[in-house]
This record gives sequence, C-alpha cells and structure tokens, in this order.
Amino acid sequence: MVFSLNKSYFCESQKNKFIAFDRILDVIHGYWSYLVLLILLLASFNAIVKYFSNQAFGAKDFRISLFGLIVTHIQVLVGLILYFAHPTLGFASLTREDLSMADVMGSSELRLFAVEHPLIMIIAVILITIGYSKHKKQLTSKGKFKMLAIFYTLAFILILSRIPWDHWLNS
Ligand code: HEM
Repeated sequence: MVFSLNKSYFCESQKNKFIAFDRILDVIHGYWSYLVLLILLLASFNAIVKYFSNQAFGAKDFRISLFGLIVTHIQVLVGLILYFAHPTLGFASLTREDLSMADVMGSSELRLFAVEHPLIMIIAVILITIGYSKHKKQLTSKGKFKMLAIFYTLAFILILSRIPWDHWLNS
C-alpha cells in the first residue's frame, strides 16, 4: 500500500521517489529505536526484580510485556521494508555490481547492515514472541516473571549487541 501511494506522489523522478521513501523509513526506524530500547529495558528490569522479590503478576506487568511485543514487531516490519528500499545499505549492498560478496562480507559496516543487524534483530524478536507466549501459559506469577525475565533480557542483550551505534547516534 505504501508503495502504490508513493508511486502516485513521486512519478516525476524514480530516483527522488526512493530517496524520499527511504529517508522517511530511516527516520521512523531511528526514532522508534529509542522506544524499543526503553520498553525492553523496562520490561526486562521489571520481570527480573519482581521474579526475585516474589511479587504478584498484575495488569501493569501484562501491559508492559505486550507493549514490548508490539513495538518490537513494528520495528522489524519497518526494518524489513527499509532493508529493501535503502539505496546503498542492506539488500542494495548485496546486489551492487562494483562490489563482490567478499567485499561486502569483508567490510564490517556493510556486513552489519546486510546480514548481522537484520538477522540478530529478527532472532531477538522471535525470542520476545516465544517469551510472551510462554509467560501466558504459566499459571503462577513466579513462572510468568521467569519466562519474561529470561526471554526479554536475552533479546534485549542481542539487540544492544547489533545496534549500529556510531551510525545511529551521529546521524
Ligand atoms: C528490534 C529491532 C530493530 C532495532 C532496535 C533496530 C535499530 C536500528 C537502528 C538504531 C538503526 C540506525 C538508524 C540510524 O542511523 O538512523 C538501524 C538501521 C537500519 N536497520 Fe534496523 N533495527 C531493528 C530491526 C531491523 C530489521 C529486522 C531490519 C531488516 C530486515 C533492519 C534494517 C535496518 C537497515 C537497512 C538500517 C540502515 C538504515 C540507515 O540507517 O540508513 N533493522 N536499525
């Protein structure tokens, strides 16, 4: 839908169309990351603290974990579109005629955006999805917090490990 909307607005120049589309997604993806990190920090910390202090699982805890699930899924969706829409990074780097696969894999920046970042982020969001669904099946508060603490924290660490920090904070 976004593509067809774009087509009608930017029929003048193919090039500008993709630059504009890419820029919008890039900005959304970059700013949405603050929300993703904040919610995951909160959800992981909340689950760990309440697991060890044997607190009862309440509506607020459920909402935090659900919110974590939603914001990360949205981020992956935007990331996937950006991966194919970006003019130089992501999929574009794998199809450039002036670069071989060895060149891309040999460059830490190109490899990060083409393979490591997307792959690890998708694995992290799969872990969040598993953790969320497992916590719902648990019958005790302790069991629910345990599942969220394990899966959300692991996912959070994976996400932190593959954020393009320099690229992000200097953009
Ligand atoms: C929880 C999941 C994710 C988080 C937190 C995340 C975070 C980020 C951040 C912080 C940046 C740098 C943005 C900037 O420099 O302005 C970035 C860039 C990028 N991400 Fe993700 N990302 C996630 C998932 C994905 C996925 C699943 C894909 C692709 C399948 C993807 C593709 C990209 C691409 C192509 C860029 C480079 C765009 C650019 O900055 O010019 N991301 N991501």
